[in-house]
Amino acid sequence: MAAGKGTRLKSKRPKVLHEIGGRSLLLHVIAAAKSLVPADRIYCVIGHEADMVRHAVAHAGVHFVLQAEQRGTGHALQTAKAHFAATGDPLPQNLIVLSGDAPLIRPETLHSLVSFHTEQHAAMTILTAVPPDPTGYGRVIRATPNVPDVTAIVEQKSLSPEQKNAPEINSGIYCFNTAALFSKLDLLSTSNAHGEYYLTDVAALLVADNQRVVAIQADSVDEVLGANTIAEMMHLDAAMRLATASRLMAEGVTIFRPETCVIDAEVQVAPDTIIEPYVQILGATRIGADCRIRSYSVIHSSELGEGVLVRNGCILDGATIGDGAVLGPYANLRPESHIGAAAHVGNFCETKKITLGAGSKANHLTYLGDAVIGTGVNIGAGVITCNYDGVHKHTTIIGDHSFIGSDSTLVAPIIVGEGAYVAAGSCITEEVPNDALAFGRARQVTKSGWAATRRETIRAKQAPES
Ligand code: UD1
Ligand code: CA
Repeated sequence: MAAGKGTRLKSKRPKVLHEIGGRSLLLHVIAAAKSLVPADRIYCVIGHEADMVRHAVAHAGVHFVLQAEQRGTGHALQTAKAHFAATGDPLPQNLIVLSGDAPLIRPETLHSLVSFHTEQHAAMTILTAVPPDPTGYGRVIRATPNVPDVTAIVEQKSLSPEQKNAPEINSGIYCFNTAALFSKLDLLSTSNAHGEYYLTDVAALLVADNQRVVAIQADSVDEVLGANTIAEMMHLDAAMRLATASRLMAEGVTIFRPETCVIDAEVQVAPDTIIEPYVQILGATRIGADCRIRSYSVIHSSELGEGVLVRNGCILDGATIGDGAVLGPYANLRPESHIGAAAHVGNFCETKKITLGAGSKANHLTYLGDAVIGTGVNIGAGVITCNYDGVHKHTTIIGDHSFIGSDSTLVAPIIVGEGAYVAAGSCITEEVPNDALAFGRARQVTKSGWAATRRETIRAKQAPES
C-alpha cells in the first residue's frame, strides 16, 4: 500500500518516496517483499502522485494498481481486488499486505509471519509489536492474554477508555487468506473517525464469521515502526544506518563512532577497512579491504580498490580508485574520475572525467578535466587542463612518465607525449612530442642592481632640502 499522501509529513513529496538509509521507503518495502516472492507477484497500490511514485520504482519490476482516490487502507485492498478481477491475474492463496511507510521490516520476520499463518490455519495473521509508547497506532485486542487469537483491531481514535492502555500495536503488516479477505472487503464501511474504509475492520468481520484471526509479535519493535512525521522518519533513518554499520562491523570493518557516520543501506565494505568518525558513504559505493577513510570525507556511488587512503575531507562522486591510491586531504573527485593503482590526488585537486594512470601524482591545487593521463606522470602544483572553450569540452592527453611543471596550463585539445617535460609556468597550446621539453612562457629578464637603484632614487626624492 503506497497510495497515501502522508499529510502528517507536511511535504509535497509523497511519503513513500521520502528516503531513509539513502533509499525511498517504498523501495525498502519492495526489497523485503522480493525476499518472499518474485517481482511479478508484487502489486504496488499507488495513488497520490502516482506517476512520480511509479517512475521512481519502475525498475523494481513490480505491478502497479491505481487507487485514484485514497479512501483508506480497506479501499486500497478493494482496488487491488478489482485489479485482479479486471486483469484475470491468478489469485494467490495467501496475500501478504505491507505498508509503504514501514520500511524496516526484515525478510526473516515476513517468513515467520507466513509460517505462523500457515501453521495456525488462519484467515488473517497480524504482525504486532509492543513499543514503549503505542500512541497513534491501531491496537490489537486478543481474545484472552497469551493466546494467538485476536478479536479486533481498534484504531487510536476509537479506543474505549479501557483500551487506551492496550500495549500491542498493529504493524499494518498482515498475511491473509486471499479468498477470506476478498469476501469481507465489500462489508467495510466509512462510519469511523476518519470517514475511511479501514482494512483493520476486516479482523472483526472475519471473527464474526467464525474465521481465525491471529497475531504474532515481531522480534524487534524497531522493524515494524511506521513513519508518519519527518521526525519519526529520521528515527528510522538512524536505526537503519546503525543497522548497516553493525552489519559492516560484523563483516570485519572498523567504524569509529558509528553513530556519527552516514552509511547507505547498499554500501559494501571489505574487512580490515577503517572508517573514521563523521564519514558519509552513500549510494552503491563499494570499498575494498585495508582502506582507511578519514573523517569528513563524503563518498558517493564510487568504487575503491584495496589499501586506498582517503585523507580528511575528500568528496568522491562516481569515481573509481585503484589499489593503494592516496587521496586528499580535500580532494574533489567528480564523476568518471578513474584513478589508477598507487596514484595520488592531493589537496585541493579537482578531477572530472579523467583517467590518471598507475603511480601518477597530482599532489597539489590542480584541475584535471577531460584528460587521459598515462602512468608515472608527475603533475606539478597548480596545473590546469583548460578543457572548455566556452562552447565545447576538449581532451588533454598526457603520455607515460611525463612531467608537467607547476602552474602550467594545457589548452585542450592538446597532447603531451611520453617522457616529455613541460617547464613550470607554461601555457601549452601546441603538441609536445615524446621526450621533448616545452617552454610556453616569456623568457626571464634580469636587470642587475635595478632594485637598489630604485631605492636610492626614492630616498633622494624624500630627503629634506638643506
Ligand atoms: C495504519 C493502521 C493502523 C496501524 C498503522 C501501522 C489502518 C486503518 N490503520 O494506520 O492500525 O497501527 O497503519 O503503521 O489501516 N494507503 C493507501 N491508500 C489509502 C490509505 C493509505 O495506499 O487510501 C497506504 C499509505 O500510503 C501507507 C499505508 O497505506 O503506506 C498505511 O496508511 P496510513 O494512513 O499511514 O495508516 P495509519 O494511520 O498509519
Ligand atoms: Ca502509517
